[in-house]
Amino acid sequence: MLCITGLLVTASASAQTVTIPVETAQTAIVLQVAPNKDLNTIYLGKKLSDPGEYGGIPGVYRQGNNYSGMFNSAYTPAGSRNLLEPAIAVTHADGNNSLDLKYVSHSVKRISDNISLLSIRLRDPVYDFEVTLNYKSYYHEDVIEQWSIIEHHEKGSVTLQKFASANINLKAGSYWLRQYHGDWAKEMRPEETQLSHGIKTLDSKLGTRADLFMPSVFMVSLNHPATEDEGSVLFGSLEWSGNFKTDMEVDPQDNLRIISGINNYASPYQLGAGQAFETPAFVYTFSADGKGKASRNLQSWARNYKLVDGKGTRMTLLNNWESTYFDFNEAKLRELLKNTKKLGVDLFLLDDGWFGNTYPRNDDHAGLGDWQENRKKLPNGIAAIAREAQRDSVKFGIWIEAEMVNPKSELYSKHPDWVIKQPKREEYYFRNQLVLDLSNPQVQDFVYHIVDSLFIKDPALAFIKWDCNAVIYNAYSVHLHQNQSQFYVEYVRGLYKVLQRIRTKYPDVPMMLCSGGGGRVDYGALQYFTEFWPSDNTDPLERIFIQWEYSYFYPALASANHVTDWGKQPLKFRVDVAMMGKLGFDIVVDKLSGNDLKFCQHAISTYNDIKPLIWQGGQYRLSDPRTESVASLMYVNTDRSSAVMLSYLVNYRYEEGSQRPILLKGLDSNKKYKITEINLYTGSTSAINGTKVYSGDFLATVGFNPEVSAGRTSVVLQIDEVKN
Ligand code: GLA
Repeated sequence: MLCITGLLVTASASAQTVTIPVETAQTAIVLQVAPNKDLNTIYLGKKLSDPGEYGGIPGVYRQGNNYSGMFNSAYTPAGSRNLLEPAIAVTHADGNNSLDLKYVSHSVKRISDNISLLSIRLRDPVYDFEVTLNYKSYYHEDVIEQWSIIEHHEKGSVTLQKFASANINLKAGSYWLRQYHGDWAKEMRPEETQLSHGIKTLDSKLGTRADLFMPSVFMVSLNHPATEDEGSVLFGSLEWSGNFKTDMEVDPQDNLRIISGINNYASPYQLGAGQAFETPAFVYTFSADGKGKASRNLQSWARNYKLVDGKGTRMTLLNNWESTYFDFNEAKLRELLKNTKKLGVDLFLLDDGWFGNTYPRNDDHAGLGDWQENRKKLPNGIAAIAREAQRDSVKFGIWIEAEMVNPKSELYSKHPDWVIKQPKREEYYFRNQLVLDLSNPQVQDFVYHIVDSLFIKDPALAFIKWDCNAVIYNAYSVHLHQNQSQFYVEYVRGLYKVLQRIRTKYPDVPMMLCSGGGGRVDYGALQYFTEFWPSDNTDPLERIFIQWEYSYFYPALASANHVTDWGKQPLKFRVDVAMMGKLGFDIVVDKLSGNDLKFCQHAISTYNDIKPLIWQGGQYRLSDPRTESVASLMYVNTDRSSAVMLSYLVNYRYEEGSQRPILLKGLDSNKKYKITEINLYTGSTSAINGTKVYSGDFLATVGFNPEVSAGRTSVVLQIDEVKN
């Protein structure tokens, strides 16, 4: 075996079998070059202590015929010997549909102490066509990002019929898929099923707001559904904000092949000679210790490497969407700024409805595209509100939906060719609006300048909520002429170009990713954002379930959770649920009773104390709302000296509550802790004896009872180390 780091190795370098392990702290992916130069995956799983033993893995399987010799191809080419779902399918310049890919060389680049990039060159022996497979590994987080770069020098362009990011191979007795489905206000509903032979596809063809029915995140457990702390499980997701497709094929040898990438639906891509097509990355993590570990891997990775300012701080805020909808004016906004200050949050976020004059944005039928302040509502412009905010010592942020246009807008009349619609067909609307053609550089420029001019007018602008409410119907771009099949890909690339340009000029401004709720939550987009809006459904009971499932894939500091008037639960419950992530409010502060206002003010100052734990701590799920009457989770700091535990009643039947103690996780069994209840409602007293001292061992083995009951539907506990 040849174990290579930091150098380039060519196939001719050795007559020996080339085995290429990609190792992280706990995981290994092992690739092997077959004698015929095919590149196969021989292992993905828990790392072995002796890497010298990886080469022996294929020898211990007796799984029948691998007819083509490429069932476990690391990137399955179509049209030669392949019998299964391909990762790549092409039509060459001469019209031939066959592709074969042979190992040429590989190199490993050390990007930092923690990150390595393995690149493997594959080449067709017949055509001048190449693919480079990239594996970027994050050692401590046990995370891999995988993508491919496709290039050729044929005489003419090659049509890429399919162009996956990754082709993963897993071996187990059975495979259990946990996938998500949804709709507006119903995000992240899980379903768990055993994968049978054949292909299960997770996909989206919505263009924008691509996750509305189904996000690309999923989990696959090996042999049995993984629990929070036990079992082998892979979490995966495509870093792409448009159409995606993930095929999961249990093959004739009972192995699982996961092929994920941009959806090739309506998208055969013309690639010119000498051009490179770079796929988005497929990100995944493997855990041999259950779902909790996998989620902490992804959360740390996102904070350390993906989110804008992932290690930084966030702003608490007051939003006016649900308190005013479109009905506000300068006087009302002044009041709201005062209320922002009174409440004690950092920022006031002005939502939809502030723009449009010829077609004022007084409801969702008009105005999108005309990003000038509405003179009636804001006679002195945004800048006046921003100045007022400064006087009140609060920050000011604003909502935009820059990718969209209402047919009732000046933009639509001026630039009908910028709008995505079929020239010969009737228009069809989603929320009375259409999508702008971001494949067109002129439109990219326009969208960029919407943001840029907001900052130019108001340099103190401190926050942007970037919304995207419509899907794409009647996909057609005037700009792309004969190249309509590039449209879905070029739209997302155009969007990223705009976001990149914004980030280059405004690297630090916090931006919330919103899409009519959580219609676009993915790591492709999140590299430009600090946070996301999980759902317009802010009923706190619903939010426990929604936030719970998101938390498997995304860190708490990115999850914008607002206290609103949805749901029947008391204010304390609503606030406690919002504390699971980044706390915000969207309520009429003036209507709060004296005690409610006092509670909120106190809650915000409590949150300011514990937010470092919630945002940067390790998250442990203790009691699952789908199987227990009490949902419970905790956040623990790195040295395990302090933690916060949040518990909620989710079953309102007679005498339901925390009948048994809940086992705590993530603490140090050798340390001693005291537990105090915090965030009590104004004037109420705690049922918890805060003077008792417990060992970490006791709390992990016997547990602790947060005393959740019909009279105490939510409980926040602070856990602190007691030093002798
Ligand atoms: C979407 C968002 C909401 C709000 C409205 C405004 O539905 O998800 O939070 O901003 O748009 O129209």
